Amino acid sequence: TTDPLVVFTPSGKRGHFPVGTPILTAARQLGVDLDSVCGGRGICSKCQITPSYGEFPKHGVTVSEGALSEWNAVEQRYDDKRGLKPGRRLGCQASVQGDVVIDVPPESQVHRQVVRKAAAARAITMDPATRLYFVVVEEPDMHSPTGDLERLERALREQWDIEAVTADLTLMSKLQPVLRKGKWEVTVALHKGHKDSVARIVEIWPGLHEGGLYGLAIDLGSTTIAAHLTDLETGEVKASSGLMNPQIRFGEDLMSRVSYSMMNPGGDQEMTKAVREAINDLVTSIAEEAGIDASLIVETVFVCNPVMHHLLLGLDPVELGQAPFALATSESMSLPARDMDLTTMNPRAQVYILPCIAGHVGADCAAVALSEEPGKSQDLVLIVDVGTNAEILLGNTSRVLACSSPTGPAFEGAQISSGQRAAPGAIERIEIDPVTKEPRFRVIGSDKWSDEDGFDQEIATTGITGICGSGIIEAVAEMRIAGLLDEGGLIGSAEQTGTARCVPEGRTHAYLIHDASAEGGPRITVTQGDIRAIQLAKSALYAGARLLMDEMNVEKVDRVVLAGAFGAHISTKHAMVLGMIPDAPLEKVSSAGNAAGTGARIALCNIGSRAEIERVVREITKIETAIEPKFQDHFVAANAIPHKTDPFPELAL
Ligand code: FES
Repeated sequence: TTDPLVVFTPSGKRGHFPVGTPILTAARQLGVDLDSVCGGRGICSKCQITPSYGEFPKHGVTVSEGALSEWNAVEQRYDDKRGLKPGRRLGCQASVQGDVVIDVPPESQVHRQVVRKAAAARAITMDPATRLYFVVVEEPDMHSPTGDLERLERALREQWDIEAVTADLTLMSKLQPVLRKGKWEVTVALHKGHKDSVARIVEIWPGLHEGGLYGLAIDLGSTTIAAHLTDLETGEVKASSGLMNPQIRFGEDLMSRVSYSMMNPGGDQEMTKAVREAINDLVTSIAEEAGIDASLIVETVFVCNPVMHHLLLGLDPVELGQAPFALATSESMSLPARDMDLTTMNPRAQVYILPCIAGHVGADCAAVALSEEPGKSQDLVLIVDVGTNAEILLGNTSRVLACSSPTGPAFEGAQISSGQRAAPGAIERIEIDPVTKEPRFRVIGSDKWSDEDGFDQEIATTGITGICGSGIIEAVAEMRIAGLLDEGGLIGSAEQTGTARCVPEGRTHAYLIHDASAEGGPRITVTQGDIRAIQLAKSALYAGARLLMDEMNVEKVDRVVLAGAFGAHISTKHAMVLGMIPDAPLEKVSSAGNAAGTGARIALCNIGSRAEIERVVREITKIETAIEPKFQDHFVAANAIPHKTDPFPELAL
């Protein structure tokens, strides 16, 4: 006679086990991904499974009613207290009695897949660096004296196969009271990075900790700081929040911040302090928004450009301001958050910063490469991450090139007369009727166009606060399509354009989008100065892309991916009309949203991806735009809308 057969779905893993074997044990022996925090004690409920009954010709089994053991007292107690979903069992309590098919639902898998919003994007597999373990620790004994930490360590070894752990002094000071409060049952959060040989105790709670564990993925831009609070068990984003980078007061763009540091002794430290304070505030507010205790944030991943990278770490960025643009280090960094004065998250939280690619191409670009994987693309893909400094990648399976380009903050709504960052009240979409030249628009926080029934009148009068990055891109492109703007970017007069919305402004003209000044609201225009700022930004972006195409020796790319903090909202058509990107069939231009932020999230949720991006970054070829004379040529040629020199056959203008 053979032992009963256990088949796990969806993995398809199967094996024979003696009657009485707990399902969790069978799963472990077969390498089936079934979660457990309490180690099979029937209290964490992470091990839930669903047995199936009936005939399964596919698996060659018939599962009869008594295939699993009856509910035992532990399972009954759990169900009484918390309630198991119908059909569910605790895998650590239910044992094998006959042939059985066991389904492991996604929420019971440790390495569950987190689906990303963009359809084409690969899913994130959960494998975080910090995890929870419930242990029962032996009580101290007069006759064999050992320390509490040593007995905790032994319990972790015996119950979880964890070889060794370290604990810092701040943790040590909690250890004894917590062990006693939990009556020798505690939950510990252990952090083990991909390069660590020993795990570190980040936190300890009496009994079973059920409050969850969280991490932050932070995209630290020159203009904005964006953070995603992520559940480290499920991968779910609990809250997203952003604020302006307070370093703006020291200089709008990166180079002016570097020169601030050069001109003012201690200036770098001032900027470091400002950004760290802002991050501390952001941690507090995002935790509040998600309704969690900020001390449950045990990990933070940063992506940022090289100057932000140095200023965050408290390193003087002065070398980044002059050739050969040497970084203090291009390697990834893993360090305690408190070394960076990040004090509002857990005091023992760990920070990971992605590697930089070169002196001008930062960890944010590495994050985009992690998210968009140009090195795995069969066709030649151009990825532009639009920010104050654009990060550009061009490549396919054979080779990947990267550069950055100083676009300035215009695409983020800064340096634009009515500009603002993407937040409620900002105009994010604009259409201009080519015949009447009348605009219609949509405002963040409202789901109606301005000319639709039910468009909020309060928004219409005083609720509009400005134009954000995607809005200004659409506005300029629409003005060009509607003939309000010539190829050189000059706004026509009312007589030339046939609309009274083209109003004089100084010696030039501006296009009036919205005027609520009579009601005390704002007057929103696109000025000649705005057009010039956008022209400079888009020329820089385009010139960077062209430089990579020169290096690759191609005239066309197969595919373009637009990424940036304004994310999914950017209209690919308008980006093309503007000439932000080289000509390509419109259906081959896609928007990836905040790819750098996504890359940060991937690195937060999966430690394997950290090793992967460190390897990928070493293989990327860096192109330096600042010392390349052809960059200037491309820049000048790209000033027209779209361009003078390069053909745009895919765009019928
Ligand atoms: Fe914790 Fe089953 S493993 S309840």
